[in-house]
Amino acid sequence: MFKSSTLAIPEVGPVPRHIAIIMDGNGRWARKRHLPRVAGHRKGAEAVRATVRGCAERGVEYLTLFAFSSENWRRPADEVSFLMDLFVNALEQEVAKLHENDIRFRVIGALERFEPRIQALIRDAEALTRDNARLTLTVAANYGGRWDLMQAVKRMLAERPGSAQSFTEHDLGRYLAMNDAPEPDLFIRTGGEQRISNFLLWQLAYTELYFTDTLWPDFDAGALELAIQSYRRRERRFGRTSEQLHEKLAGRPLVSGTG
Ligand code: IPE
Ligand code: IPE
Ligand code: MG
Repeated sequence: MFKSSTLAIPEVGPVPRHIAIIMDGNGRWARKRHLPRVAGHRKGAEAVRATVRGCAERGVEYLTLFAFSSENWRRPADEVSFLMDLFVNALEQEVAKLHENDIRFRVIGALERFEPRIQALIRDAEALTRDNARLTLTVAANYGGRWDLMQAVKRMLAERPGSAQSFTEHDLGRYLAMNDAPEPDLFIRTGGEQRISNFLLWQLAYTELYFTDTLWPDFDAGALELAIQSYRRRERRFGRTSEQLHEKLAGRPLVSGTG
């Protein structure tokens, strides 16, 4: 398990190790073209392929995509069912390609709400790709940040009932859905809204946030590059002062409590 950014200061490089994306704006992309919303979702799936490729080529190690939130069940039934079909198609048709490209595939979220057939496809895809090392692609489906925190607390207390008074951040972190990945370095939300929409609430504590008006179906290699360039200009202080960071770069030891 990776140390949390509040317990130890992470190493920071020019390429984000972990990028997390809220892929938003499919419906508006379609509406602009007088197409049904679902046409935007279909086009959005192409943007997923380009982004996975772009991240693998740049040496990003973890890519986490918000595909369906725990609140997206509130949408019209026909849109929900179209999104489920798109998910099934992607699982059936893309997983072999991911495997060929040494990409590990994972799904996080309350999967029990999905049809058994979808759950089986997910299990098979995860098993097939589990030892791949180039990039870990995690899809958040029926995922919510609050669900994640709640399920982690419940599982921890069920396994370790005595820990209610004494558990640490590190103990709880082991039960969170993303426990095998470092916290995201860069968060991207397309589609112009500036909110988290119940995505990774715990893990985004020190993530750099990037919002773009580009609608998800239009997000391509150039748009990914702009996001990474913006990330490179950020100063990640994790609570320290800018002066401390410059001293560290000059090779002097950093005086700090942890990390
Ligand atoms: C994001 O695009 C895809 C999902 C939430 C599944 P939207 O469908 O939210 O598109 P907008 O926000 O209505 O444009
Ligand atoms: C967030 O987008 C969820 C996904 C992209 C899967 P939404 O479009 O559902 O978010 P809100 O409703 O605008 O906050
Ligand atoms: Mg939206």
